[in-house]
Amino acid sequence: MKSREQWGSRLGFVLAAAGSAVGLGNIWKFPYMTGQNGGGAFLIIYLFFVFTIGLSVMLAEFAIGRAAQRNPIGAFAVLKGKAWPLVGAIGMIAGFLILSFYSVVAGWTIAYIVKMASGTLVGDADALGAAFGSFISDPVEPILYHALFMGLTVAVVLGGVHDGIERACKVLMPMLFVLLIVLIIRAVTLPGAEKGLAFFLMPDFSKISADMFNAALSQAFFSLSIGMGAMITYGSYLNRHENLGKSALWVTSLDSIVAVLAGLLILPAVFAFGFDPAAGPGLTFITLPAVFAQMPGGVFFGILFFLLLTVAALTSAVSLMQPIIAYFSDEKGWNPKVSAVFFGIVIFVLGIPSSLSLGIWSDFHIIGEKGFLDSVDYITSNLMMPIGGIMTSLFVGWVVADKMKDEATNNNEKKFKFLNGWLFICRFLAPLGISWVLISGL
Ligand code: PFF
Repeated sequence: MKSREQWGSRLGFVLAAAGSAVGLGNIWKFPYMTGQNGGGAFLIIYLFFVFTIGLSVMLAEFAIGRAAQRNPIGAFAVLKGKAWPLVGAIGMIAGFLILSFYSVVAGWTIAYIVKMASGTLVGDADALGAAFGSFISDPVEPILYHALFMGLTVAVVLGGVHDGIERACKVLMPMLFVLLIVLIIRAVTLPGAEKGLAFFLMPDFSKISADMFNAALSQAFFSLSIGMGAMITYGSYLNRHENLGKSALWVTSLDSIVAVLAGLLILPAVFAFGFDPAAGPGLTFITLPAVFAQMPGGVFFGILFFLLLTVAALTSAVSLMQPIIAYFSDEKGWNPKVSAVFFGIVIFVLGIPSSLSLGIWSDFHIIGEKGFLDSVDYITSNLMMPIGGIMTSLFVGWVVADKMKDEATNNNEKKFKFLNGWLFICRFLAPLGISWVLISGL
């Protein structure tokens, strides 16, 4: 087998994996889901899932990937075979589907860079809400931006793992972090912001419901990029010396910090401007421009924010695509550049109905009241990723546990205090917990 590309350093790997994890899921989806699910209580359940099941599944994926040095399908085949590669296959299909709508939303962020710069995002909160609604329901404009975003994704993937993905993440992730802090300072000092802070940080446990658990768990999987093989693929480019447990802890922590920061940015602003926190996907695109309109240098910060959000989305999109590229290169000998362009086009086409479902196809429902975009999001985040998580933990906990113990401790070279805790979660807590949440959610 030809030698496999590798990450340049531990920091490079952690930032690339964090680049995969941190994305629209943190800054766009997390605040509106928190808003729809009652605030602080959702936050606590979310963090509980992240640091128990989420962290363990992420470590499981890193271990599978590094042990096998393969794409998700190939990794399950090398380590065990039988029907297990199907788990990798389902994950890769999920990645395809997620990227198709992810790119549509990421296209909105590019559009908002342009709109900020050209000064069209003006007026009060109602006007901004109306502008957002008419933009996303347009049959043409968002699709052009979706095409542009898929083009960018393909371009980074063409650059390769080290020079493309790792290099971009090392510069852009720290920038995103600093900018979030600056914006939070503005948001929490808006008059009326304290109601938003209370909503986010003071849990009201009377609001707890089965739906909330389901939403928190699926959001944890989506946000951490687990349950579909992206982290298996990233782990496959790791060298033998890396400490997997520590890396997984870093990535989950960075991802959670950014989600909490995004909540601290959006929710206080939502309350300060009198929006409904349960308003859904438009939240970020309406409240933030309203914040920018109220701060000195708002246009500048606005451009910078949507630019960085685009980049955060890009480093995630790349990780949604890489498993597919790795599969066809590892197993079928395809040239990665050719497959990047080919699948880029396929995913673009698949995204078109998602975009149209917010406008001219909005009457067309697939699951219950949900349109195409929401249905694809629901099937992938609420079903496919959690099922991927169950299978991955069962695989590590029961099927190849000895090999995975060696992997997590680098053949007993490194001490791993939580080895038994991790295996316990993989064997029992993760499969049972996820199944319970799935069933009660249905
Ligand atoms: N974790 C990304 C986000 O929060 O935006 C989305 C994502 C990336 C999901 C990669 C799944 C994945 F494999």
